[in-house]
Amino acid sequence: MTDKVAKLVIGDQTHEFPVMSGSVGPDVIDIRTLYAKTGMFTYDPGFTSTAACDSAITYIDGDKGELLYRGYPIDQLSEKSSYVEVCYLLLYGELPNKTQLAEFDKVVSRHTMVHEQMHYFYRGFRRDAHPMAIMTGVVGAMAAFYHDSTDISDSRQREIASIRMIAKMPTIAAMAYKYSVGQPFVYPRNDLDYASNFLHMCFSVPAEEYKVNPTIAKAMDLIFTLHADHEQNASTSTVRLAGSSDANPFACIAAGVACLWGPAHGGANEAALNMLKEIGTVDRIPEFIARAKDKSDPFKLMGFGHRVYKNFDPRATVMQKTAKEVLDLLGVHDNPTLQVAQALEKIALEDPYFIERKLYPNVDFYSGIILEAIGFPTSMFTVLFSVARTVGWISQWKEMIGDPQKKIGRPRQLYNGAPARDYIPVDKR
Ligand code: SDX
Repeated sequence: MTDKVAKLVIGDQTHEFPVMSGSVGPDVIDIRTLYAKTGMFTYDPGFTSTAACDSAITYIDGDKGELLYRGYPIDQLSEKSSYVEVCYLLLYGELPNKTQLAEFDKVVSRHTMVHEQMHYFYRGFRRDAHPMAIMTGVVGAMAAFYHDSTDISDSRQREIASIRMIAKMPTIAAMAYKYSVGQPFVYPRNDLDYASNFLHMCFSVPAEEYKVNPTIAKAMDLIFTLHADHEQNASTSTVRLAGSSDANPFACIAAGVACLWGPAHGGANEAALNMLKEIGTVDRIPEFIARAKDKSDPFKLMGFGHRVYKNFDPRATVMQKTAKEVLDLLGVHDNPTLQVAQALEKIALEDPYFIERKLYPNVDFYSGIILEAIGFPTSMFTVLFSVARTVGWISQWKEMIGDPQKKIGRPRQLYNGAPARDYIPVDKR
């Protein structure tokens, strides 16, 4: 709390509301007493000016293009850390020492297998089901298999559920992929690191030895780190809202998976690659830029723009560099999709429409190029995003559940429907 107040004058009444400051970033006006004092609600569809909670996990400065996980800049973590270490950091708030990291890594590895009955659960899906449809169903179904970690009032169960989510998401995702391509499921291996284990579960087959390429595994690990958390984005807010009703953690994460699937959010990585392929060649870019600017055309440049970043998304910068490295390593030179992406970025960033609206490439603009080069179909791109984001969702969920001020989320509305009226019998209508 600060000694600053915000004054709101309505008619001949002046109402004062306390101003609160965080450790960094914008102050907030505490309007929790607004309705009681004034009989009015605030109106903010899309929450463009609303802080829905306080949190100590991730901070974004949209103007500076800065992203901090528990205070550590994403570019430093991308260069020096690992996804498992970032999971520990997001969950517990501090970087682990060697012993803590080794112990955490071992505990996560020991929870990577899923209940054998889950294999039959997949059998109910059509083979051509979108893997995100499978993820939404299977993650929600985890509550049907792990009853001993659904009591959210028990901190030990909350801890086990968090570890289970982080550990099992790669296995569930890899099984969704294997099921969609008609290959047998591959069990996790505790001798492989998180990213290598995931690649092994996705791409190894019983017929031959599969060697994980360490550079590809490092790129995969980096992609997981870049997607791990991102403040109160749509899917994280969904997880928090679901969790505010004391729903079990698996149901909350399933709600986050469902929200992430939307092309305006996590589904943008799949949509962005499809868009780059539809553009096809650099000479067709102006046609698509014109469509993106045409208000009568619903087309948007997928992978461009962001509610918070009004400068470069720092994750996109790292992703662009990694895309080039992975393609070079794989000997994929002159990749037409990367060429279109780079040309599109250059043209858009010189166009007044994008400059005025501060539209820059976001995390989803380049990720698809890397994921396709690694061997994933576009339908798996958002699945990978959900694997990476699980630690962010579960960390934010744990923070909320542990908050003594927790209340069920219940927004109000501006009603513009019919006022009260009497029923009309059908023969009188
Ligand atoms: C993610 O919130 C997070 O943190 C999300 C995320 C995370 O890690 O969790 O970062 C992950 O979801 C990244 C965003 C992925 N989505 C896309 O790439 C889809 C394309 N982008 C847009 O749909 C849009 O930019 C949003 C949804 C990302 C942001 O939308 P806003 O903040 O509601 O902004 P807006 O739609 O009000 O746009 C402002 C203006 C509008 O034009 P005007 O009405 O002012 O004339 O910019 C235009 C929009 O039409 N605009 C675009 C555009 N994005 C915004 N025009 C063309 N192409 C675009 N991509």
